[in-house]
Amino acid sequence: MSEHVKLIYDGKTYELPVITGSEGEKGIDISTLRQTTGLITLDPGFANTGSCVSTITFMNGEKGILRYRGIPVEQLAEHSIFTETTYLLINGVLPTRKQLNHFSILLNDNSLIHEDMQSFFQSFPRASHPMGILSSMVTALRSFYPELIITEEEINLMVTRLLSKVRTLAAMSYKISRGHKVVYPRPDLSYCANFLNMMFDNPVKPYQIDEDQVRALNVFWILHADHEQNCSTSTVRMVGSGRVNLYAAISAGIAALWGRLHGGANQGVIEMLTKIKEDGGNVAKAVERAKDKNDPFRLMGFGHRVYKTYDPRAKIMKKTCDGVLEKLKISDPLLDIAKQLEAVALKDNYFIDHNLYPNIDFYSGIVLRALGIPTSMFTVMFAIGRLPGWIAQWKESVDDPNWRLSRPRQIYAGPPPIDYVPIEDRI
Ligand code: CMC
Repeated sequence: MSEHVKLIYDGKTYELPVITGSEGEKGIDISTLRQTTGLITLDPGFANTGSCVSTITFMNGEKGILRYRGIPVEQLAEHSIFTETTYLLINGVLPTRKQLNHFSILLNDNSLIHEDMQSFFQSFPRASHPMGILSSMVTALRSFYPELIITEEEINLMVTRLLSKVRTLAAMSYKISRGHKVVYPRPDLSYCANFLNMMFDNPVKPYQIDEDQVRALNVFWILHADHEQNCSTSTVRMVGSGRVNLYAAISAGIAALWGRLHGGANQGVIEMLTKIKEDGGNVAKAVERAKDKNDPFRLMGFGHRVYKTYDPRAKIMKKTCDGVLEKLKISDPLLDIAKQLEAVALKDNYFIDHNLYPNIDFYSGIVLRALGIPTSMFTVMFAIGRLPGWIAQWKESVDDPNWRLSRPRQIYAGPPPIDYVPIEDRI
């Protein structure tokens, strides 16, 4: 039997249908609300608003659950590789061996970028942030490669182009920022190994592929691959709803991810840990500052809009962090500070009462440092990882028969109508 909620307003009763998801989560369908009642809803930050019905990712923030297409992220992090998880997110099911091989060939075939694009890199000032460069370069891809959205085959080509070229662009931007020769992708290497090789190989010191590092990068990217309707993904859907090309929608997602409260937090965590270390390692002082409402300081890598318990990705990231540092025989003093900070915060009443736990970004920066990735590139690493999610969500939205232009409303609180005053009469 279908459920309804009753809304009583201005002496009338309205029935609004309740929609139930496949995991039992419920929402009120208000799509006819304004038409029938004249009312809209107001929900700053959209904390109570569902923008779509989606079959891609399930999250339960109270229980700390995250699944891609039904598969727990813990299982994917343990058994899958990033390209397989990418296929899963975009196509809805795990690939057969044949399908995965074909997908890898497509990724490889599309990994080069037009040589003319290299000159764009030279035009950015040296101090440019890599996220700004990446966002601009992804928009520029549209000028070199046409938008293909008619047949399934065309969409697959455009999607694999994007997945493969963004990785090449990211590594290129690093090489060029260092004044080094660009390293081209190699057909014999996997997606993750290829990226590390493009980043770190150079003519005087050939890069040695290390399987532990490749595995750590696979896990890092799998954990970032999708996170339902977060800020950047909602941006991709919203920008895409205007029927802009996929490159522009992804570029907007990259810009949204750049923010310090979102993907930029991984860079923020390392900067915070470094400051604490330089200040003498007083983690209790940092926790006190984070609680002080007169101090804008927040513990970066702590808290989440959805998770009200330990972020399941953070658990895996912490384990990966310990494992990779041990295997590479690296001792990172920032890891010690992070662990002390976590221990103090998790015992603190403010953090307990506010349900503030480490999120994925708390340990991810230490993993990236161990792989030799510079701090300024951290959010770019997040962006490469999030690409499959953005693409899957974009694809789902364009295939949705209920697809409409995203256009929220507002409650106007400005001045009432007033007449224009000619400039000579203004005081
Ligand atoms: N340190 C100290 N206090 C915090 C923190 C923090 N990291 N996060 C939230 N709070 C407090 C906040 O001051 C507020 O307190 P009160 O209710 O007493 O005024 C309360 O918790 C709720 O905070 P909010 O900002 O309203 O919560 P939100 O759901 O809007 O924000 C958040 C979520 C992630 C923006 C926030 O927790 C934060 O700023 N964290 C630090 C940045 C960070 O690590 N971001 C990465 C998120 S995970 C990666 C991703 O998916 O993007």
